[in-house]
Amino acid sequence: MIRVLFVCLGNICRSPMAEFIFKDAVRRRGEEAGFYAESAGTSGEEEGNPVYPPARAELARHGISCAGKRARRMTAADYGRFDYILAAESANVRGIMRICGDPQGKVHRILDFSARPRDIADPWYTGDFAATYADLCEGIEAFLDSVSPR
Ligand code: 4NP
Repeated sequence: MIRVLFVCLGNICRSPMAEFIFKDAVRRRGEEAGFYAESAGTSGEEEGNPVYPPARAELARHGISCAGKRARRMTAADYGRFDYILAAESANVRGIMRICGDPQGKVHRILDFSARPRDIADPWYTGDFAATYADLCEGIEAFLDSVSPR
């Protein structure tokens, strides 16, 4: 069982989208038994809030539900609970370093697994949730291709 924590700043846009896209991709691959995923934010600003409506709508356009998800802040204890900690962008990696460091090399950006490693822009500011969805799918498919037990 590979355990993955997706991390962004607020845990209301990118990382919850990543969590539910990931669960959908794993299900489509028939690999539910092989993976476990959650998401969290480096900031506590949005703690307890549901997924931001435009992010939820973008998931729904692709037949993916994120019902029940509430934002939470990443904790130092999360470091021991997960095998991979996948950040949306470099600023989130720095936030994770402040929370728990990375003694075991678990922290990467989601798109570090793609052919074109890069940050995922914050749709809270860009407003382009379709671009966020496409970037997340690219990173998640590349990640699954690289770690899948096959
Ligand atoms: P996220 O987006 O990090 O993708 O969840 C944001 C959500 C909230 C804020 C910033 C980014 N904020 O400043 O409250």
